[in-house]
Amino acid sequence: MKVLKTASSLLLVVVLLLQFTACKNEGKNEREEPDVFTYSTEDESGYDLWLRYPTVSSANYLKKARELISYILMPDTSREVLYSAYSELQRGLSGLLGTDEIPTKEEIDKSGALILGVADDPIVSEIASKNSLSVTDTDGYLIKKVNINGSDATLILGQSDSGVLYGAFKLLEILSTQEDISSLSVSDAPKIKWRVLNQWDNWDGSIERGYSGKSIYDWGTLPKIKDSRLTDFARANASVGINTVVINNVNTSNNYINSRYLSKIAAVADVYRRYGIRLALSVNFDAPSALGNLTTNDPLSKDVIKWWQDKTAEIYAAIPDFAGFLIKADSEGRSGPSKYQRTHAEGANMLADALEPYGGIVMWRAFVYGDVAKKLSDDICNQSYEFFKPQDEQFKDNVIIQSKNGPRDFLPREPVSPLFGGMKQTNMGIEFQITQEYTGQNTDLCYLVSQWKYYLDFDLMLNDSPKDIPTTLSQILQGNIYSETNTLIAGVSNVGSCESWNDGLLSQANWYGFGRLAWNPELTEKEITETWIKMTFNNQEDVVNTISKILYGSWELYESYTSPYAMGMTAAVSNHYDPDLSYRNSNGTICVDRAGIGNNRSSTSKGNKTDATAQYSEELAAILNNIDTCPEELICWFHHVSPKRVMSNGKTLIDNIYEGLVAAPQAVSDMKTAILSLKGEIDDKRFAMIVKDFDEQYNNSTRWSEAMIKFFEQQTKITCTAQGS
Ligand code: GCU
Repeated sequence: MKVLKTASSLLLVVVLLLQFTACKNEGKNEREEPDVFTYSTEDESGYDLWLRYPTVSSANYLKKARELISYILMPDTSREVLYSAYSELQRGLSGLLGTDEIPTKEEIDKSGALILGVADDPIVSEIASKNSLSVTDTDGYLIKKVNINGSDATLILGQSDSGVLYGAFKLLEILSTQEDISSLSVSDAPKIKWRVLNQWDNWDGSIERGYSGKSIYDWGTLPKIKDSRLTDFARANASVGINTVVINNVNTSNNYINSRYLSKIAAVADVYRRYGIRLALSVNFDAPSALGNLTTNDPLSKDVIKWWQDKTAEIYAAIPDFAGFLIKADSEGRSGPSKYQRTHAEGANMLADALEPYGGIVMWRAFVYGDVAKKLSDDICNQSYEFFKPQDEQFKDNVIIQSKNGPRDFLPREPVSPLFGGMKQTNMGIEFQITQEYTGQNTDLCYLVSQWKYYLDFDLMLNDSPKDIPTTLSQILQGNIYSETNTLIAGVSNVGSCESWNDGLLSQANWYGFGRLAWNPELTEKEITETWIKMTFNNQEDVVNTISKILYGSWELYESYTSPYAMGMTAAVSNHYDPDLSYRNSNGTICVDRAGIGNNRSSTSKGNKTDATAQYSEELAAILNNIDTCPEELICWFHHVSPKRVMSNGKTLIDNIYEGLVAAPQAVSDMKTAILSLKGEIDDKRFAMIVKDFDEQYNNSTRWSEAMIKFFEQQTKITCTAQGS
């Protein structure tokens, strides 16, 4: 079908010659015949993400869907979020049902109405009370088939207008994925209060650790909005439930809170508000002296307190639903309370006081190591816990401590940060990294939903859990273990100005998957992945099976050639991308020698050890301390493991590592072969974009594999004898 469409359109035919250099491990440098792709401007660019709404492909389903919804009962479009729900339904339904526009009516006069609103709205309230329907969870929704005086209708009932918007996106998802609509009854509500995208965008238009082009914010042109990109960004975020966007880098310029530019920031907030999204800003702790010419930034100084109060009031005057401040203090050269001999609780609470009257929050980062924390432990991975744990109980209710998922950074694999189990009296939020800083930088495919699920499902084995609830990271984050009310999941954005938002088409799945997990960290990888594939490509079984298989294996594959068994940071310090091993080894960041691979962070084994395991619950620490019970995937994080150790599959550690390294380029090649089998089933332009990425990944995995093998051979004095298949 696609071939016919392509052939008939002929608007502009572009011939892509892609020369595939990827080839089998033994036959590097052999050349395959170049593939030739022909595509027209009608092919897709990836800009529409998972919100494409093509006409439903099954005639039978289309008929049923058209019967289900033939008109929309006009909601109160003066409410901007409700208007967004309505306009998304118009856009989506007209696409899915293959019509120019869905008619609107003021009353129900026949079957086929779609009704949307909250319980207080006229008609909605009548239907809800007649059918005993209600939605009580914040921003929750219910989608239900109802009968009104003999006419069948579909109701989207929201607890709030945002709830209606989420329900609208859900209805469009149901139709896009052709789920059963014969007896529609679906309800849902977010399990996390603050679902936050952290953009690391800079005022000059660059993005720290961004691999998808420039920033989407054009500060020169704003507050004038020149195109629909910001709206489409908001739509995409809202469609997966994200309700807060921090628009600037944690290493920020003070311009963002400079009075001169507030109207620009407010213009962005105005766009986001229409989609139920609150804007937040990263701020510098030394803003009072840098912007306000104060002589100090001491959080207990009256002048400093007043400066922040005034600044906060000014921001709220421009942005009434401003979400709050994100702050990186005393970290990597940023200023912080330590300069004034104040604790982080004192610093955070001062800002929290300023924000409290407006319902704002402080997202205070736990990424503190080096300088201020060094005296606590030599092991960089122990420092954040050592630094914050003593301050548990000291933070105000509207402060959330935002910790990265692991104790170090965003490495391919780390254990869950012990802070999540340790800070029992503090709101703890997590920071994931959607942008692939240490995971291939959008060249290599790395499906991070697999990684995040690994962390979220990890049981921290806390003995003070309410009965019957496993103390997984997910449950802790939801506030089900320690009853926090300000729950938060944040993700560092991978969005940029490139046409497909995420350079590396399949990495759109990471943005999508992040939002879905922030809404409900209990969702399974399968639920998220299959829905994304169906909405982004189509419902064909082989498309869903092939792409999901590729995605599922991609994180562990990336790990196998860059940091097997959680051995630590092997990437160059300059770019976090290329392999750089000997420097890292001498620096103690990784440790590989004849005696072993990995860092000894246990409490019980002999020799140099850092006692990192002691930061976990007694039960978990006992498991981690024992090399025989430590989860194998984390073994080199916690132990200096003999290369000859026999692992659970009967092979030695070093043989497993070598086999993984040798097999990696071939595995990348196999992913490409699998994708090539889908030619003609995905539009040619996006298909070509995906294929091209695998060629780059092939080269990268080969480079890594060679460097890693050389390094392991040098350090362990064991020759690699593994053979590629
Ligand atoms: C990493 C990253 C930096 C970033 C920092 C942070 O170190 O490389 O670019 O600023 O994390 O999270 O603050």
